[in-house]
Amino acid sequence: MRPLSLYCLSLLAATAPAQLVALPYGIRLKPIDQQPLMDPVGPVVPPSHQPAPGSGQPPPQQGGVLISDIMGRDRSINIFAGFTRDVASISARLDDSSKNSTVLAPRNSAVEKLPRKPWEDPRDYEALGANAYEGGDGQDRAHRNLRRFVEAHVVPVSPWAEGDKVKSLLDGDREIWWEMKDGVKVIQPDGIEVDSIASRVGNGELWIVKGVRNYA
Ligand SMILES: *[C@@H]1O[C@H](CO)[C@@H](O)[C@H](O)[C@H]1NC(C)=O
Repeated sequence: MRPLSLYCLSLLAATAPAQLVALPYGIRLKPIDQQPLMDPVGPVVPPSHQPAPGSGQPPPQQGGVLISDIMGRDRSINIFAGFTRDVASISARLDDSSKNSTVLAPRNSAVEKLPRKPWEDPRDYEALGANAYEGGDGQDRAHRNLRRFVEAHVVPVSPWAEGDKVKSLLDGDREIWWEMKDGVKVIQPDGIEVDSIASRVGNGELWIVKGVRNYA
C-alpha cells in the first residue's frame, strides 16, 4: 500500500462517524461522494492521535483522492477492481491525478454471467484449441485479452456529459455515449444501465454498471 493511500484512509477513518462502509483491509470509513476531501485552504493536517504512516511526507497538493484509492471500496465490483490492478497501464492511469477517467465498472454479477471469462476469446480457442491459455504464451494471451476488457470499460474523459461521444481506452473501439432513459442513465449503443455513480474523486468518476460492454 502506498503512503498516500494510507494517509488518506487514516484521515477518512479519523473523520468517519456514521454510514460506515467496509473496506477489504478491515478499515471502515464513510462514503466520500458528497464530501470532497480536498481542503479549500490547503493540505489537511493529519490528526495527531493517528499519525499518517510514513509521515513527514506531505500529500501532493493536487488531486486529493484518486480513482485508484476508491476502486476497492465497493464489494459489488471487486472482480473488476481486481482486473484494473492487474493491468499496469490502467492502474497507473487511475493513480494519476493529471489524467481523468470515467470508469464503467461492471457489477460482479454481470462478469459472472458472461458465457466465458473476460480473458477468454473464442477466436483463440478456434485457432489454438483447448490449450489456448496454457504455458507462457497462453498467459500472455489471457493477459492481453483481459487488458482489452478493462480498457473497453475506461473512458478517458471526466466529467462525461450526456450525449458526448467518446472512445474508451481500447484501441479501435467504437464511440460510446450515455443518455437518460426513463430516469436511468444508459450507456449506448450497448444499452447498459448505470446502477449508480459510486464516487467522484480528483481524477474522475467510478460508475457501477449492470452489464458488460460488447466490444469484440
Ligand atoms: C478532471 O476532473 C476534475 C474533478 O472532477 C475536474 O475538476 C477537472 O476539471 C477535470 N479536468 C478535465 C481536463 O476535464
